[in-house]
Amino acid sequence: MSFVEAVEELAHHAGVEVPREGSQSTGPDCRPLYAALEQAAHYYAEQLRTHPQANRAVTYLKQRGLSGEIAKDFNIGYCPPGWDNLIKHQGKDPQALKQLRESGMTLESENRCYDRFRDRIMFPIRDHRGRTVGFGGRILGDEKPKYLNSPETPVFHKSRELYGLYEAHKTLQKIERLLVVEGYMDVVALAQFGIRYAVATLGTATTPDHLERIFRTVPEVIFCFDGDRAGRDAGWKALNTTLPLMREGRGARFLFLPEGEDPDTLVRKEGTATFEQRIQNAAPLSDFLFNKLSEQVDMSSLDGRARLAELAKPLIAKLPQGIFQEMMNKHLGELVGLESARFTSQQPQVTSTPKPRPKRGTLQPMSPVRRAITLLLKQPELAQIPDLPTNWEALNKPGVDLLTELLHTLQETPSLATNKGALFERWRDRKEGKYLSKLANSKLPTHDYTAEFTDALTHLQKQLEGQSQDLLLEQYRQGAITEEQYKERLRQLYPGR
Ligand code: GTP
Ligand code: MN
Repeated sequence: MSFVEAVEELAHHAGVEVPREGSQSTGPDCRPLYAALEQAAHYYAEQLRTHPQANRAVTYLKQRGLSGEIAKDFNIGYCPPGWDNLIKHQGKDPQALKQLRESGMTLESENRCYDRFRDRIMFPIRDHRGRTVGFGGRILGDEKPKYLNSPETPVFHKSRELYGLYEAHKTLQKIERLLVVEGYMDVVALAQFGIRYAVATLGTATTPDHLERIFRTVPEVIFCFDGDRAGRDAGWKALNTTLPLMREGRGARFLFLPEGEDPDTLVRKEGTATFEQRIQNAAPLSDFLFNKLSEQVDMSSLDGRARLAELAKPLIAKLPQGIFQEMMNKHLGELVGLESARFTSQQPQVTSTPKPRPKRGTLQPMSPVRRAITLLLKQPELAQIPDLPTNWEALNKPGVDLLTELLHTLQETPSLATNKGALFERWRDRKEGKYLSKLANSKLPTHDYTAEFTDALTHLQKQLEGQSQDLLLEQYRQGAITEEQYKERLRQLYPGR
């Protein structure tokens, strides 16, 4: 719950009104609307028991397998045939009529007022605090429209409310997950079969508001859709809505039922355990996403896999930055056979020594030896850094000897740092002299190069380790050293490992 909702909830439990300050948070007083809707819900429930024609409704509900107990839990009612039953019952004065109109229970035509709902099974929609905010009404037969919903009113917003959420809270101590289904009847049937954590949107697609409300309640949502084309499309739409909300600790899965079934028919057919097994096996968001995209391309061809990457990239980009997004990128990389680094614009480097990124067109393409020499010429004081990595000088690579000599010279005669002329003098008649002055003239932005320099030397050290290891292995293979010697030297190479 949001902070305000939590405060309201606690106040409600304690039976006190939340004091409000200022005018903008007060808004119009909706209490009369809630009261009118509550009264209507009560009236419809009573009609299901007492109206002379109620047996038609009762028969219909029984034929659909609904128990009296569950009808009571959900406060299901019956709206009798006729144009003004509700108006007659609770619209006795202009004030009451106004409330019926504002709560969406009546319609006006040619200056006359009519009941909106007539001869329907009534499903009261309750908000998270249990207040009735609207209704869904189902026709008893096959006529159209099958369902009629309350319109948007000051207290009813389809894009926010979830049918069954209040009832789930009421029956469950702790809700572990929520199952989002499509219909009122699905929620009710699942509840009757002990699956008390199903909610339905009100004939609309799942909205970000719905999802925020869901994730405030539980860490995991499972979307349940029919297996037909429309269900698949709705699932894909739900996935797109969910992506930006997949923060750390949140999960979403997708369950597609066999064609022609909905949760209501299926749970009655196969029972609670089998249906819950389906929930258990629902596909994680990542599987649904990649499977669906893979179906659209030819995964056996290079072009197809490239296309997959193209299709997946904008979707993965919708995820909040974090571990889940990284994992999705990595998975995509595995699927198409590329490094994940190719897909992300800004992915964190996970290395032991943080690598400062040099500005464009500078050091990065250089070999570590060349990099180290250049830096040392630019900033000779680097030679004085204490505890520089040294276990690289034996590396067999071009330039390493020059770097060693340069570094030692600067360490032995620190004054050369401020006298570059004298420094270069030492190499004047050697071929390295030209090379040094060329590197000394490389254009680099001026800043402190300590980190880059240490990093280059560390790099060299790693290369030497690799080289020595290869060499040792080669010697051992050729019988130049014994296994004991080989192991001993490896230990020397990696002390402490
Ligand atoms: P049953 O046929 O009673 O089993 O309905 P259902 O609960 O299985 O609903 P269905 O899957 O046909 O539709 C899902 C949801 O879409 C319903 O619960 C309604 O919220 C909404 N819906 C379905 N038909 C209509 C309609 O004709 N008009 C409106 N406004 N909404 C509808
Ligand atoms: Mn159905």
